Amino acid sequence: MQTAYRTHTCGQLRLNDIGKKVTLCGWIRRIRNLGPVIFIDLRDRYGITQLKIEEKNNKALFEQVRKLQREWVIKVEGTVVERESKNPNLPTGAIEVVLDSVEVLNVSELPPFLIEDETDGGQDLRMEYRYLDLRRPKMQRNLALRAKFYQVTRQYFESHGFLEVETPFLIRSTPEGARDFIVPSRLHPGQFFALPQSPQILKQILMIAGIDRYFQIVRCFRDEDFRGDRQPEFTQVDVEMAFVTKEDVLTLLDGYVRKVFQALLGVEIGEIPRYSYSFLMKRYGSDKPDLRFDLPITEVTAILGESPLNIFKKVAAAGGAVTALRVPSASNLSRKVLEQWTKFVQHHGAKGLAYIKLTSPEPTGTIVKPLKNTSVIEQLQTITQAQEGDLLLFIADEHAEKAFRFMGALRQEVAKTMQWIDDKQWKVFWVVDFPLFEWNEEESRLQSCHHPFTMPYEEDIPLLDSNPLKVRAQSYDLIINGHEIGGGSIRIHDLRLQQKIFQCLGMEQEAIQQQFGFFIKALAYGAPPHGGCAFGLDRWLMLLCNEPSIREVIAFPKNSHGRDPMMDAPSFVSKEQLQELHIQLQEDVS
Ligand code: AMO
Repeated sequence: MQTAYRTHTCGQLRLNDIGKKVTLCGWIRRIRNLGPVIFIDLRDRYGITQLKIEEKNNKALFEQVRKLQREWVIKVEGTVVERESKNPNLPTGAIEVVLDSVEVLNVSELPPFLIEDETDGGQDLRMEYRYLDLRRPKMQRNLALRAKFYQVTRQYFESHGFLEVETPFLIRSTPEGARDFIVPSRLHPGQFFALPQSPQILKQILMIAGIDRYFQIVRCFRDEDFRGDRQPEFTQVDVEMAFVTKEDVLTLLDGYVRKVFQALLGVEIGEIPRYSYSFLMKRYGSDKPDLRFDLPITEVTAILGESPLNIFKKVAAAGGAVTALRVPSASNLSRKVLEQWTKFVQHHGAKGLAYIKLTSPEPTGTIVKPLKNTSVIEQLQTITQAQEGDLLLFIADEHAEKAFRFMGALRQEVAKTMQWIDDKQWKVFWVVDFPLFEWNEEESRLQSCHHPFTMPYEEDIPLLDSNPLKVRAQSYDLIINGHEIGGGSIRIHDLRLQQKIFQCLGMEQEAIQQQFGFFIKALAYGAPPHGGCAFGLDRWLMLLCNEPSIREVIAFPKNSHGRDPMMDAPSFVSKEQLQELHIQLQEDVS
């Protein structure tokens, strides 16, 4: 680290450096003027060192130091001494540097927020002044862990024979279910490139090209609505392999996932279990449940559908489902909480929430009266294993899957309200055996659960014509603590099967040619069996850093309106630039 400017960094000096003459550079984090003595905390990327000057020792220097201000950049010379009162929370907390000289390298405006881990700056202010925000130790730690993530990724895949290949950003649109960002072409009037939503087709083409193990740490672009774990541009660890089965891919990726946890957190996550989509949907009402708590859902259609309660009878008759959630030791929950949960499920689209409190001597709740003189409550208790003091929650819907999904959302909310989520735990698993298609109600057509290149199970192929919603995909998602962190599949390498899938998706020949002509052409030239996966690096890192949003692990993210407040982008461009691109704006937008 030694340069013409400094001998040490601000995180380096320890007790065994006592007596050394040192030169440090950094930003002034804090000045404490105690009258005859001034202390300065000097900060750089590596840490904080306390500087000290006493008036009696050097009056001229003392006067100079008195004029310094927060966030000025200074170079100091001095001697390392042992501190009288040590700070055990700081790696350099046993020493301080007694100043011989100070040189101001640059002054600074007063920062608009505290440059500390606990800052008083709001999101937008922090993003407008991102260079100040990134000076905060926490942000520097996050970026350092990110750099390590790249390193571990490269190491792992290179050691397993993978080639890192860059794919282009200016491409033809490839579908991943979101909108494309498009880029106008100056040289080709009226034509546009799309920024890749992922390198999916390109990596498959690399397999056809004989690069049988590919990986890339790659930026992807999706014009989606905002969420805390989404950004319009984000980074994937993208992987593809040829001549592999699903088992081969998952075994290799298991090793990678374990390696990331070991290298970045020193955590051993052990075997990574695999659960089928249908098991998870039935038990947890979600294909990405948080398994840091169990709280399983029980289907009680057979019991409540036969009970005197008409509403449940109707649901059962329509082929729907009634789901129950047992909340242990929660029979004394206030009405206010139950009302909040009711609003929560209604917001998700459920019609309502029924409940039974297993209180003594008599149960109470919204559906207790009509069940008096029946054995229904006992049956419910038996099937859910509920005991006195527990609370039972019920959601019904004429679409069975919806009833489970609503309850799945409530399950998470219950655990949150009850503070049952242990944020020190890691629950990592694969979801396998997704359906190949799902039904798009708005457009009355099938759509791919993942993407149209996903291979169905061989034995399910005959169902493509007779019962396509029953076809299972050779795909897998990685879930960590309830977040979807990665997804992939074995791909279709047979041209005819690929055509068939496009047809199932209701695509016309012309549209197929228009969108995927180049890919179909490539598939005809000896595509090997292949498969792969992509991990959302930002999302995964957000969890590893225990951050609430992926913005905290990206150096220059977009805000919740998809804008960069520091650069003030996107922005209008000049008429000349537009003309060159053959673009005319509608009058009302500028
Ligand atoms: P998928 O679309 O599931 O698969 O994306 C893979 C992973 O990328 C992350 N991710 C995002 N992260 C931040 N912001 C976003 N807007 C965003 N969108 C997705 C998620 C997700 O699990 N080509 C396929 C992979 C394959 O089949 O190999 C793909 O992109 O963590």
